Amino acid sequence: MKKEFWNNSVVVITGASSGIGKALFEELALYPCQMVLLARRAGDIPEPKSKHKDLTIHRVTCDLASPSSVQDAIEWISKRVSHVDVLFNNAGITAHGRFDSLSMEVYQKTFATNFFGPIQFIKGLLPLVAQAKGNIVTTSTVSALYGVPGRAAYSASKSALHAALESLRIESLEEGIGVSLVCVPYTDTALRTSGLDSDGKLLSEAPAKGKRKSAKEVAQVLIKVAEDKEARLVTFNLSGKFLEWMRFFSPKFLEKILYKKLYNDFKIH
Ligand SMILES: NC(=O)c1ccc[n+]([C@@H]2O[C@H](COP(=O)([O-])OP(=O)(O)OC[C@H]3O[C@@H](n4cnc5c(N)ncnc54)[C@H](OP(=O)(O)O)[C@@H]3O)[C@@H](O)[C@H]2O)c1
Repeated sequence: MKKEFWNNSVVVITGASSGIGKALFEELALYPCQMVLLARRAGDIPEPKSKHKDLTIHRVTCDLASPSSVQDAIEWISKRVSHVDVLFNNAGITAHGRFDSLSMEVYQKTFATNFFGPIQFIKGLLPLVAQAKGNIVTTSTVSALYGVPGRAAYSASKSALHAALESLRIESLEEGIGVSLVCVPYTDTALRTSGLDSDGKLLSEAPAKGKRKSAKEVAQVLIKVAEDKEARLVTFNLSGKFLEWMRFFSPKFLEKILYKKLYNDFKIH
């Protein structure tokens, strides 16, 4: 971690009330910086376990699925800080269900939270990010690299975000803004209880089987990515690289593997 990068910086984190966003906040709280923390439950975000004496924390209640709430947050932030060095576009929800069973409300809510809200928020803060030649770091998923069975709404919302932010990256080359997409693997967080089932009810699924990262491990990678203006698409491990490459080299083989591996996630019960 480059200490000097974070000293006196202004950092915005969406989804700071839980999981990866909360771990990011706790890691960065050790630096003399200004942090703007957003979430619907921003008011409940506790003080970090350890913090630098010159750390400033702003908690901003914001529902990314509500355009007026996002607009209020943009105005609030724009009145209080002159620039943004790093915008961690982290908040998100998952949605589990087959393509044909997910209700349209679930598609809409997932896109409102994972796509339209973040786009509106990033657009609104872009002048402040440009002011600092800052970095926008998005917590994305390997499910954005290919349409994953049982995750049509989630995969689609995150891969749409990839496309929009890739456009932004190219368009803002002259402003010196960094735009990176970090495809996180399974991580131990509340994602599977805070997400939606196909009817729009709260998911209550057990954590994914197999190896999972801790939120702290993921936060540490996101922090390194934020320090690197050249970072673009970041995958963590072999399964991320595998998805990234196989979509071009052998999509048929990739689909067979996804079918077998995730069969239980989309079979008709
Ligand atoms: N966990 C994984 O396995 C995994 C894997 C790949 C990618 N990711 C991505 O990691 C990011 C963080 O998720 P997490 O795993 O840390 O899950 P989490 O523990 O459920 O945290 C999600 C965060 O997003 C916020 N959020 C959700 N809906 C929101 C809304 N409408 N408006 C504002 N904030 C909202 C939540 O805050 P409030 O509820 O207080 O609003 C919470 O702080 C997500 O973008 C997710 O897609 C996670």
